[in-house]
Amino acid sequence: MKIEPAASIDGAIAVPGVKGISQRAVLLGAIADGESRIEGFGRAADTETALSVVRGLGAEVEDDGSETVRVRGVGLRGLREADGPLDFGNAGTVLRLSAGILAGQEGRFELVGDESLSGRPQERIAEPLRRMGARIETTDGHAPVVIEGGPLTPIRYEPPMASAQVKSAVLLAGLLAEGGSTRVVERNPTRDHTERLLRELGVSVRRRGAEISVLPVERLPGVDIRIAGDFSSAAPFIVAATLLSGSELLVQGVNVNPLRTGLLDVLERMGANIAVFNRRSESGEPVADLEVRSAQLVATQVDGEEVPRLIDELPLVALAAGLARGETVVRGAAELRVKETDRIETVTTSLKALGVRIAASEDGFRVRGVPTRPRGGGVESFGDHRLAMLGAVAGLVSREGVRLEGSEAVAISFPGFFDLLESVTQR
Ligand code: S3P
Repeated sequence: MKIEPAASIDGAIAVPGVKGISQRAVLLGAIADGESRIEGFGRAADTETALSVVRGLGAEVEDDGSETVRVRGVGLRGLREADGPLDFGNAGTVLRLSAGILAGQEGRFELVGDESLSGRPQERIAEPLRRMGARIETTDGHAPVVIEGGPLTPIRYEPPMASAQVKSAVLLAGLLAEGGSTRVVERNPTRDHTERLLRELGVSVRRRGAEISVLPVERLPGVDIRIAGDFSSAAPFIVAATLLSGSELLVQGVNVNPLRTGLLDVLERMGANIAVFNRRSESGEPVADLEVRSAQLVATQVDGEEVPRLIDELPLVALAAGLARGETVVRGAAELRVKETDRIETVTTSLKALGVRIAASEDGFRVRGVPTRPRGGGVESFGDHRLAMLGAVAGLVSREGVRLEGSEAVAISFPGFFDLLESVTQR
């Protein structure tokens, strides 16, 4: 696909529902009693995976392809062994959160994924779940992961890395662990979609200082929620509108959970012009509309403490930094190396090929920005949806456009991405 340079971004958009909440709602709906109704379900390959996995485990899914999905749960311990391996495709969140739930189910479960997912570390969930009493084996630390579930006991666990997926796997297993509260210590807060959704279901989840605790439950009521737009899907549009002078973009109904919107803080420090208004609350999550106007940016620093709040947006930060006056340094982001691709490598390789002066470090990157359009050229997504979207935005803000190979990877989180982008692009 060739992405031609754009003059500006102009118009109003809404993006599909939060991927991570869609996945969590399906997984919890599967072990609830009775029916769950999920409105604003974020349609994408990674959320379809959640549906196919719970179907494989015996839950019923009613799905007419609309934005509302219904799941008929089988009860807290009612999941049954699948006929064969459960295929998680590219969906790391679904695999890791399912592992927490399956650890407490009777039966043997084999969890497999695609090539990218099979290269990602899984001992990070296996280790705490073993401590809770599950029998769980990884393949040299990776998928296939085999779980023989059974009775669990509560633990207090401090993950060695900031990860919402690890935290969530332990908390979900904690729902099934009898004899007290399961606790996760998190010095550097990560997204709390799991905690908020559990609270919506009446589960006792507390945060005291750095410690989050959950009490086991006898049963879960059905989920009944409305999911707002995914901030990570809005992010490429926000960055494009900021970088292209004369832009005016309205983003309607986007989730603004403060543990997800670090990009707004970083862009604000860089001089961006973004208004957040119509703040409201929907199903326990903060939602707002955003108005983005273009601005000339200056360099900034991003360090480890801020990183979890914009981990999936750091590729876009690198591009924005390329057009900002001065040197931007991102540190403490080594987790980028174990995403769908090694995003420190893939982001620096891609942006360098387009003329951005960027250098990788062990745990981040350094960008020497200049306030002019980068040249452009050819890049590859490496099958990584965030890289494909980065390439698209880079094409719009470039002088000569970008030839993007593997653009179809956007379907992992946002199948309608290119159509929506085209609808607000002025040439
Ligand atoms: C996610 C957590 C993050 C994030 C991922 C989604 C989630 O991963 O990068 O895209 O929904 O919990 P880690 O927990 O590995 O940091």
